[in-house]
Amino acid sequence: MSHERMFSALAESVNRHYGSVDLRSRILDKLKEAGKDLQNVTRDDLAPFDEFHTGGRTSTRELAGMAGVTAGMQVLDVGSGVGGPARTLAGEFGCIVTGVDLTEEFCFAAQLLTELVGLADRVSFHHGDALALPFPDGQYDLVWSQNTVMNIEDKARLFREIHRVLKPGGRLALETVLAGPTQGIHYPTFWAAAPEMNFLVSPGHLRGLLIGQGFAEETWEDITGLALAAARKRLAASGSGISSALGRDVIVTKDVMRKIENSVRNNTEGRTITIRGVFRWVDGPPGQR
Ligand SMILES: C[S@@+](CC[C@H](N)C(=O)[O-])C[C@H]1O[C@@H](n2cnc3c(N)ncnc32)[C@H](O)[C@@H]1O
Repeated sequence: MSHERMFSALAESVNRHYGSVDLRSRILDKLKEAGKDLQNVTRDDLAPFDEFHTGGRTSTRELAGMAGVTAGMQVLDVGSGVGGPARTLAGEFGCIVTGVDLTEEFCFAAQLLTELVGLADRVSFHHGDALALPFPDGQYDLVWSQNTVMNIEDKARLFREIHRVLKPGGRLALETVLAGPTQGIHYPTFWAAAPEMNFLVSPGHLRGLLIGQGFAEETWEDITGLALAAARKRLAASGSGISSALGRDVIVTKDVMRKIENSVRNNTEGRTITIRGVFRWVDGPPGQR
């Protein structure tokens, strides 16, 4: 199958999996239901659902610290979702952030939430594919990506694209689920309802791909314990029956409980691990060294 046909099939699956019809209205309704004044929404109000990855905003802050994020940095967030991490990097660290995501509804929602909290002058979103980034070479100080790599099969191409848009010496900050020592995972998960969307690789494979594309590893941390604790906390909160509380179900409309339960099972059975790491651009791409 050609890349374009494969791309459109996968893009359709990604949009079907993550997108829900008129997510923007759903988010606004949920915020109102939770008693929020839409004229005075804060990033804190959004935090229970807009950081759609393992450790939530705490993990974003920690990864930013690991990556040496400073004010004024030009950052590209690959797989930016509804934009929580991008807004944290802009609102707390003073970065100028561009997000790119394959799910169109997420991009619309990300833009709306960014306007609501008054960060639209520093954060913008593009609907696009991480495998064909719609940006020129050497533009960003930092490429950021949390819990997106699991949906992308051609990781060599992904890291080549990331390397291309980074300034020489720039960094990649990555958080992702990887394959654990036990084969196979329980579905559905937050990133895949079925094997067609699941592209987990082992830690060794991921590291080899990054080095092959001209990156050097600066930091690598296994945060599976944190992932497990976060999933257990979500399980407890979902079972509490407080219907007005904002949670991940604001943006995840299908099988939320089963996805949380499977997150606990996959982690405890050694089927998945979660890592975060920082990688530096050290070398030209293969063929130009
Ligand atoms: C689990 S969400 C994480 C969102 C965000 N990084 C966060 O942490 O809040 C995974 C995101 O990856 C996006 N995605 C998957 N494949 C992609 C691709 N090829 N290009 C761009 N985005 C992609 C999905 O649309 C989804 O928004």
